[in-house]
Amino acid sequence: MKFDVVPHPNPTDSAQIAEVLKDPGFGTHFTDHTAVIDWTAAGGWQNARVEAYGPITLDPAAAVLHYAQEVFEGTKAYRHSDGGIWTFRPFANAARMNSSARRLALPELEEQAFVESLEQLVSADRQWVPSGEGEALYLRPFMFASEAFLGVRPAKEVSYRVIASPAGNYFGGELKPVKIWVSRDYVRAAPGGTGAAKTGGNYAGSLLPQQQAAEKGCDQVLFLDPLHDNAIEELGGMNVFLVTADGRIITPELTGTILEGITRDSVLQLARDRGLTVEERRITLDEWEAGVEDGTITEVFACGTAAVITPIGELLDGEKTIASTGTGEVTQSIREELLGIQTGTVEDRYGWMHRL
Ligand code: PLP
Ligand code: COI
Repeated sequence: MKFDVVPHPNPTDSAQIAEVLKDPGFGTHFTDHTAVIDWTAAGGWQNARVEAYGPITLDPAAAVLHYAQEVFEGTKAYRHSDGGIWTFRPFANAARMNSSARRLALPELEEQAFVESLEQLVSADRQWVPSGEGEALYLRPFMFASEAFLGVRPAKEVSYRVIASPAGNYFGGELKPVKIWVSRDYVRAAPGGTGAAKTGGNYAGSLLPQQQAAEKGCDQVLFLDPLHDNAIEELGGMNVFLVTADGRIITPELTGTILEGITRDSVLQLARDRGLTVEERRITLDEWEAGVEDGTITEVFACGTAAVITPIGELLDGEKTIASTGTGEVTQSIREELLGIQTGTVEDRYGWMHRL
């Protein structure tokens, strides 16, 4: 797809960018450009461009504002020591965006065009890619219904955009185990719903339980299965893994209510290749609690693009801590291997990295 590039008339100067990159935080600073592709039912995808980052004009009747017809993705670009900028498994993000789009009755975008949109944006904003330990340029592709129409049907006008934001640790500060809180009153997704799609509504629904978690001093909320069977699903924005003393690594199976994390899939591959026994299955809160208690479960971690691999420390149910683990060796070493592949210090045996 041919992208027109209209450079920002007044880009951020290098000194200001350097200031932001000193401590990028997560999701608060945005680069100078955005990639855009428009879609209409009559004309398909058109008008691909890179333009100055800035507010967008939207009709108050735009369908996304009423019926949340929207999907998004999250991936990162890493600066390698040879100066090259690389992204991690971007075709997997492209495929997932299309699968989310199908569920939300949005148009699919050719995978190649998705990856090109990342290439084009990063090439305009290369200076913004941080190089510190655990830092990257977070890329946020998203697609939304822009048609002004209040009837409930799939929009005939859609906008696809990519924005970029320099990112450090999602949880802020140094890496340390996070505290999580079990949501008992609210579930994230139900069979046949939109849980496997990366769509804004899933996150909107997670905000209240996430707020309750924060009130208990926790960093993330843990969702259980919708049938109230005490099986764990995932966190508000991350998948979950448990590690056992006898060399197994366990994660909830994909049931259609869980987001199919690309980090999750990569961790499964890395774990298999280092000889761990991988179990994708139903796992209950009671198994987690009892396993930590009797020493069979030694480590628990969360994983995702934003969170990378973050150890889970305390697990709170109501007011009570029901399990507590520290940063374990397996967590630490899988994190180092994954980050090493992403940042170019460990050989990419899987062909996961894509040069932008
Ligand atoms: N689960 C949820 C709900 C998420 O929002 C994310 C983040 O994208 C993940 C899991 C992890 O997915 P990935 O590893 O592809 O970033
Ligand atoms: C990501 O990891 O890319 C997500 O979308 C999750 C969110 C917590 C930022």
